[in-house]
Amino acid sequence: MNSFFYMKLRTLDDLTNVAEKRVLVRVDYNVPVVKNKVRSTDDARLRASLPTLKYLIEHKAQVILVSHLGRPTGSDRKNSLKPVADRLSKLLRRQVVFVRAALDDGKKVEHALDKLQVGQVALLENIRFHSGEEKNDKFLARRLSGLADVFVNDAFATAHRRHASNVGVASLLPSYAGRLMESEIHNLDRLLRKPIKPFIVLMGGAKISGKLPTLQSLLKVADEICVGGGLANSFFRAHGFNTGKSVVSRDDVIKARKLMRHKKIILPQDVVAATSMTAKAGARICQPTEVSDNEYILDIGPRTILDYATRIKRAQTIAWNGPMGLFEIKKFSHGTIALGRIIAARSSGRAFGLVGGGETILALEQTKMAGCVDHVSTGGGAMLEYLTGKTLPGIKPLLK
Ligand code: 3PG
Repeated sequence: MNSFFYMKLRTLDDLTNVAEKRVLVRVDYNVPVVKNKVRSTDDARLRASLPTLKYLIEHKAQVILVSHLGRPTGSDRKNSLKPVADRLSKLLRRQVVFVRAALDDGKKVEHALDKLQVGQVALLENIRFHSGEEKNDKFLARRLSGLADVFVNDAFATAHRRHASNVGVASLLPSYAGRLMESEIHNLDRLLRKPIKPFIVLMGGAKISGKLPTLQSLLKVADEICVGGGLANSFFRAHGFNTGKSVVSRDDVIKARKLMRHKKIILPQDVVAATSMTAKAGARICQPTEVSDNEYILDIGPRTILDYATRIKRAQTIAWNGPMGLFEIKKFSHGTIALGRIIAARSSGRAFGLVGGGETILALEQTKMAGCVDHVSTGGGAMLEYLTGKTLPGIKPLLK
């Protein structure tokens, strides 16, 4: 392992004598809940936590899980983690004890946890039902730490937040990185620290804002950054092209103008333009300079697919974040799906391939080749922030 942070992490391998100890594990089970259920297509974050849970179960710990779901203001049924506990019970093939009581009701919580046997797992109700969570409130952190002997943080996707259940509690208990946290850091470090060249980044999504620091950081290590989606529109506008009805903020154009100077930024050679964002819209392929006032830019065109595919094929390291167009509508999904397939096909052997971001993963799953990619990150915002080179607040307390 040649990576920097990975080498410095305190991991489960440093955690000795966990038998009969209570281990508080911060997981990120912020997943879609539809009609009180977590669908099997949406449970990737639960499955990603299984190696840590299985390790702790095998080593006879008592596992107490803590997670958030959504962005609730106070407690509400819609954001309850009960459906998550049900899905996790199925994945673990053992009943997960769901602790509905609020942490302020110490007696009820203790009563539920007292019954926890060695090797059993409990999931606390949504930690964001407590107003102290996002304020990193020390009393809430103390309550959490009082429930356990050891803290394991496996919530990489929340590592960019400074909250009571990841940062606060880590200052009060001996703290370790879980297997998922380890694997995310190890794989993301492969992009930042001496990536095997050529290193190609494929970056799409809605806009530059939010991605600028990541782009700047990747420009230092990558050989080429191929852009698409709304992100490309900002560059087109910066070049003075008409982007029709595709919305581009002035701020994004200013940001694009600064980045444009880099020869490493590769723009689409052709696009798919249509008069409406619907499946029925008449679409045409044109050059980025030929878009008319009444059109949207909704995908990259075939010449761009070929150009980006050729670059991806030459690469030894590939990272992808953000779709190339409005992939939710089939007719505008070709660029995203074609490149997703090529990235997956080149991964696992020929090159190291890493894919991350909620929408990007949805698109990758449509290719049915997600399993071929070396690392699919569970982090959206956390992954982008990690790639800026910063030590994320949730990771800092886990370093030796
Ligand atoms: C995510 O889904 O990106 C994480 O769970 C963080 O959620 P948040 O953006 O609501 O903090």
